[in-house]
Amino acid sequence: MSQKPDNDPRLDQAAASDDAVLALHEKAIGEHPDNGARYRLLPIFILFTLSGLILFAGTYLNRYAAHYSPLVFNENGKPSTGEVVVKIDPVALGKKQFEAVCITCHQATGMGVAGIYPPLAGSEWVNGPSKRLIEIVLYGLKGEVHVESHVYSAAAMPVFGQVAGSAYNWNDDRIAAVLTYVRQEWGNKSGPISADEVSAVRKSMGDHKEMSEDVLMASK
Ligand code: HEC
Repeated sequence: MSQKPDNDPRLDQAAASDDAVLALHEKAIGEHPDNGARYRLLPIFILFTLSGLILFAGTYLNRYAAHYSPLVFNENGKPSTGEVVVKIDPVALGKKQFEAVCITCHQATGMGVAGIYPPLAGSEWVNGPSKRLIEIVLYGLKGEVHVESHVYSAAAMPVFGQVAGSAYNWNDDRIAAVLTYVRQEWGNKSGPISADEVSAVRKSMGDHKEMSEDVLMASK
C-alpha cells in the first residue's frame, strides 16, 4: 500500500472534527432553507374548500335530485290544475274484461264454439255498425242469429249493460273498452267505441228487452 501524501485535500476533510461538520451543515441549512418542504397555507385552504364543495354537491344531489326520475321535472309539462288525470288504455282494460267473462263462451281465439257460441273474430256484428254491437252487449241477444253464414240459436248472449234485468251491470266505460278490444283483436280492424256512444245508445233505448236479429237489423 502506498502512503498518501500529507497535502492530499481528502485527508484534510477527514481531519475535520464532528463539531465543525455539524456547524457547517447548520450554516448551510440556515442559508438555503428547503422551500419545497415548508408548511404553506394556500394548498391546504384549496384542499378544504374543494372537499367542502364536493360534500355540499353530493349532499345536495342526494336530497334534491329525486333519484334522477324523469317524471319529477318535465320541461314540456303544462302548469298543473291540481287535477289528477289517470288515462287507462281501453284496449288493455277491454282485454281484462274479455278474459274475465266473454272468453268462457267466445273463447280466447275469438272463434266461439261451433253450433253454440258464435265467433267474434271476423264477425259482421263485431265489425259492423257500432250501434248494433253496443245493443248486443248492453241488452243481450237471443233467437236465431247469422254469423259468417252460420246460424246460431242454441244459447243466449247475457245482458251486460246497466239496464233492467242485467246479469253484470257493467258501466258504459267497461262496455266501450271490451268492444274496442274485440274490434281490434284476432285480425279485426274496426275503430274504437267510446263510452259516450254506449251512453247515447243506452239513454235512447231505455230498458229495452233482449235483442233479436230482426230488431238489430231494423236499428240503424
Ligand atoms: C254465457 C256465454 C256468453 C258470454 C259470457 C258472452 N257471450 Fe256473446 N254470445 C253468446 C251467444 C250464445 C251468442 C249468440 C246468441 C244467439 O244465438 O242469439 C252471442 C253473441 C254475441 C255477439 C253477436 C254475434 C257475433 O258472434 O258477433 C257478440 C258481438 C257478442 N256475443 C259479444 C260478446 C262480448 C263482447 C262478451 C263479453 C262482454 C260476450 N259476448 C259474452 C254467448 C255469450
